[in-house]
Order: sequence, then C-alpha cells, then structure tokens
Amino acid sequence: MPAVSFQEVAKTYSGARGQVRALDGVSFDIEPGEFFGLLGPNGAGKTTLISILAGLARASAGRVTVMGHDVVADYAAARRALGIVPQELVFDPFFNVREALRIQSGYFGVRHNDDWIDELLAGLGLADKANANMRQLSGGMKRRVLVAQALVHKPPVIVLDEPTAGVDVELRQTLWQFIARFNKQGHTVLLTTHYLEEAEALCGRIAMLKQGRMVALDRTANLLADAKGSVLRFKTDDTLPPDLAARARVTGRIAQVATKDAAGVEAVLTRLREAGVRIEDLEIGRADLEDVFLAIMQGAAR
Ligand SMILES: Nc1ncnc2c1ncn2[C@@H]1O[C@H](COP(=O)(O)OP(=O)(O)O)[C@@H](O)[C@H]1O
Ligand SMILES: [Mg+2]
Repeated sequence: MPAVSFQEVAKTYSGARGQVRALDGVSFDIEPGEFFGLLGPNGAGKTTLISILAGLARASAGRVTVMGHDVVADYAAARRALGIVPQELVFDPFFNVREALRIQSGYFGVRHNDDWIDELLAGLGLADKANANMRQLSGGMKRRVLVAQALVHKPPVIVLDEPTAGVDVELRQTLWQFIARFNKQGHTVLLTTHYLEEAEALCGRIAMLKQGRMVALDRTANLLADAKGSVLRFKTDDTLPPDLAARARVTGRIAQVATKDAAGVEAVLTRLREAGVRIEDLEIGRADLEDVFLAIMQGAAR
C-alpha cells in the first residue's frame, strides 16, 4: 500500500476571470519511507495538490489516499495520518507555544503528550520559547512552531510546503536534520521547495509539475544521470547574444549555459567570441538539479 496515492487528480478553480485549471490529471504514488520532492515553478499546482491531500480543497476529479484512507470518504483517518507544514504562516495569536502544541495534540486525540512536546521543542531549538506568546515570535520561530505542530501526533506522513522560503541558513539546517531523522525512522516525507540544491540533497525521488501537469517523475539520481552534459559557468559584464541568453541561467554577473557534449562547449565559446563577449573565471562543471529542472521546464509541451 502506498503512503500517498494521487490518481488522475484534476482541479479547476472558477473565479471572476473565468476558470483556472490548476491540476490536470496528476497521478503518482509515494511509497512508505520515501523522501519525495514535488517541484515546479510558481503556479504549477503544488499547493493545490497539497490542499487536496490535506482535505482543505476538493478535487474536481480523481482520487487521493493517505495510508489507504480516501481523503474525502475517510477524511478523519486520512488527516490523522498527515502532518502538514503549510506554506503560509498561520497561527492562533492568543496561545503560547506549549499551549498551541497541546491544543493540536488534543485535536488529534493524543493525551499526556508533554514528553513528546518537550522533545519537539528541544529538537527544533524552541525550548526557551515554550511559554512565549505566538505573536511575540519572529517569523523563523513561528515556522519552527508550525513544524512542531505538524509532528505533535507523530504522523506517518509529513508534508512540507516550501518550509524554507525566506528562512535563514541556521533554521534550514536545524529543520533538515530534524526531518531527516524522522525519515530515517520510517516516516514518509513529501516536500515542495524552490531550493533545488535542497531537493537534490534530500529527495530520493522527484516529481515535476508544470501548469498542472506532471512533466517528470524519477529517482533523483536518474534525473541527474540523464543530464549527461556539461555546464559552462563564467562571469561577464557584457550582454549575451539573444540565442545564448535564451538558454542561459544568469545571476548577476554569473552566467551558466548547459551543453550536451564537448562540441557543444566549443560552440558556445565560439559564439561568445563572435559576439565579442568578454568572459572571466570560466569553469566547466556537471549539470545539477537546477539545470535538469530548467531543461525539463523549457522542453515540456505548452
Ligand atoms: N483559491 C484559489 N482560487 C483560484 N485560483 C487559485 C486558487 N489557488 C490557486 N489558484 C490558481 O491555481 C494555480 C496553481 O496554484 P498553486 O497550487 O498555488 O501553485 P504552486 O503552489 O505550485 O505555486 C495558479 O494558477 C493559481 O493562481
Ligand atoms: Mg505553493
């Protein structure tokens, strides 16, 4: 039995400006114990898929199960099997951290949970904030409380929707150590993130969504192996010719261009010389997950 199963899931939102097809027949399974990554640009449908999983939104078509429980027909059991860290910082301002965690335990019918709550607080660096009011906490601290809330009932499946967006490096490390430990103990993890180096490091398997459709699903190692080419990285103050600019990844002065093979590398260098682009600090490296992601997104139909 898969930990999570999405079967032909579709979702259409109707609003003032007509209909938005947020998901268009998405199917995949996540096996127990997997660390699974769901990637895609903004608006691809990741949060919609997670909302349907969590029972916060209704699919227009298709079926979703968590540990065998249908998220609609068997909502309570499905929800109990899930720990969800939402993309938005939502919290009740009237409670302190320990109270918020006790209330969440009560919601799932877990009593006498203070030992586990203490462990969560310690593991997430929140021990000295147990009695602090939620509204006194910084954004990063609130994020930690949301993670603790998601784990308070030790759910078999943990879902994190961009948990590290706008989060400092220290919290990212604490969080990943913590989640990785859960995963080693057998908990299934579903993660969405814009930090592709995180996905590359953590996820055994990855699905990519674009405009509500799946455009890739494979083991991370296979996705990287398929990207056999090399990537040219260099610095420049000049403008790249349009044909290169269209396929380059540019961050400030640094440009990266993916190529298939040695002949491709030569072609790019020739093109730069022809266009009179002066380059510094040239390196040739292997493609990483971000290169793979960009290639798949550019290559995907539509
Ligand atoms: N509540 C909503 N009402 C109308 N459209 C929505 C709603 N939520 C999301 N959408 C639309 O659905 C698409 C997918 O959004 P979302 O699932 O948030 O994507 P992602 O999380 O991948 O950025 C987008 O076009 C978005 O504008
Ligand atoms: Mg989202």
